[in-house]
Amino acid sequence: MICLSLAAPTLDEAVADVRANLPHIDALELRADLLYPGELAQIGTFPRRLAAADIRLPMILAIRRERDGGRFSGAEAERTALFRSAVGNVANGWFAIDLEEDFNPPGLREAAAEAGTRVIRSLHLPDAFPDDLEERLARMARAPSEILSVAVKINTTRELLRLCRIQELLGSRPRIIRGSGDYGFASGVLAGRLGSMLTCCPAPGRPVPPGQVDAGTLDTLYRYRRLSADTALFCVIGNPVMHSRSPHYHNARFREDGLDAVYLPVQVDLVEDFFALADHLGIRGASVTIPHKAAVIPYLASSDEAVGRIGACNTILRHPGGWHGRNTDVPGFLGPLLAATGRNDLEGSRAAVVGAGGAARGVVFALLSAGASVCVLNRTEARARALAEELRSACRGGATITAGGLDESAMELLESHREVIVQTTSVGMHPNEGGDPLPSYRFRGDETVCDIIYTPEWTRFLGRAEAAGCRTLTGRAMFEEQAAEQYREFRRLV
Ligand code: ATR
Repeated sequence: MICLSLAAPTLDEAVADVRANLPHIDALELRADLLYPGELAQIGTFPRRLAAADIRLPMILAIRRERDGGRFSGAEAERTALFRSAVGNVANGWFAIDLEEDFNPPGLREAAAEAGTRVIRSLHLPDAFPDDLEERLARMARAPSEILSVAVKINTTRELLRLCRIQELLGSRPRIIRGSGDYGFASGVLAGRLGSMLTCCPAPGRPVPPGQVDAGTLDTLYRYRRLSADTALFCVIGNPVMHSRSPHYHNARFREDGLDAVYLPVQVDLVEDFFALADHLGIRGASVTIPHKAAVIPYLASSDEAVGRIGACNTILRHPGGWHGRNTDVPGFLGPLLAATGRNDLEGSRAAVVGAGGAARGVVFALLSAGASVCVLNRTEARARALAEELRSACRGGATITAGGLDESAMELLESHREVIVQTTSVGMHPNEGGDPLPSYRFRGDETVCDIIYTPEWTRFLGRAEAAGCRTLTGRAMFEEQAAEQYREFRRLV
């Protein structure tokens, strides 16, 4: 169940939020502590207002204290009175009231039971994951009619794994378990699959707490209500990773193909912990992004040639013999380049690569493997030379690899390798859009020019090439092709 957490300041706005999200939600939680003080006294009228709007959904009432991450600053006696007035009338029909682990005023549980309202027994840990969470939960779990609820800040991938294991420990116990923060994101999307009764999320347009998405996104992008134990799980790992566009790309493709699969971002600090998490959750494949492209390699049982040569792996796939690593940046770069040039390979071509960092490695290997001769030009010339030495053995046929700097003396080298020019440095990337790594180079118009940067899609460098009449390829074209290549691998594993 998707539970809309109502953070509106007035009851009328809360009803409007529910109405606007009806297609995506199965329950709602009124966060009464976020209401204006004058509205708080009116919470007893909320069920009637919903009924008047013809809305019938299970309703949860929460009045969260400041120490639990809420805004209620009054006395406990006042909170007790508010809960009592809400559940006092059976006709109100609250599904549940949220009472904290330490909040047990005499008679309130009984009053709730009489009104047919359940108790959610909750633990809020907005800062840290306690060492003894499992024991605390075991103590809380004593009253079997209560629904156990834990909202805990997740600060590492290992803590996310621990929270997933806790879900398993709780067996069939009714529960609502959620990790907050970016590291906890997967615990919200997979809450139902892991055994939680529901997951709470905000209405679009209201503040989105870290590690959550709004109800519509959870329902449509992540297919929350259709996830089951059979759904094939895929993810992108990185740090940071929440900004990644990959979930939009892969989830859209899964939907188009009618596959029971979902793809989500998983923020990872230590790759070792990710592999344990992947085993626990049964993750079938993942995209790997910065800073883990090299760190995953020791965990692979096998890999394609590019991974070994480049020392970077951007795709991991669960094969029967263990994890298989691929680097789809190579076909992602070559595919659009060959399509643009109308050729099957680059034999006899001469290409220049600007930059000698991690991204340049993949591009140089790709060009060499297609048969081109390559010159590597880099601000720090020694780095360009080192890269050329390392990849010399990947030259095919009579192709060569040379190196130079970015100054005037290297321009001759560029002139003789200008058929294809690939920009791989970070110069010109958002937020430094004005940058140009080769400001003195004048394009003739017969070069094929690529820039691997995709924010912005049109860098100053690529814009100059386009204006000079060159054939151009944006980083976006390459990003999409490497994602398409990944998708072809993922869909085989569904
Ligand atoms: P990536 O993995 O994205 O390639 P990297 O390994 O840090 O990142 O490499 C960054 C590349 O951009 C390098 O080639 C770097 O040149 P140096 O080796 O001389 O550092 C290049 N680069 C970064 N800032 C630059 C600038 N202002 N001018 C020219 N080149 C620059």
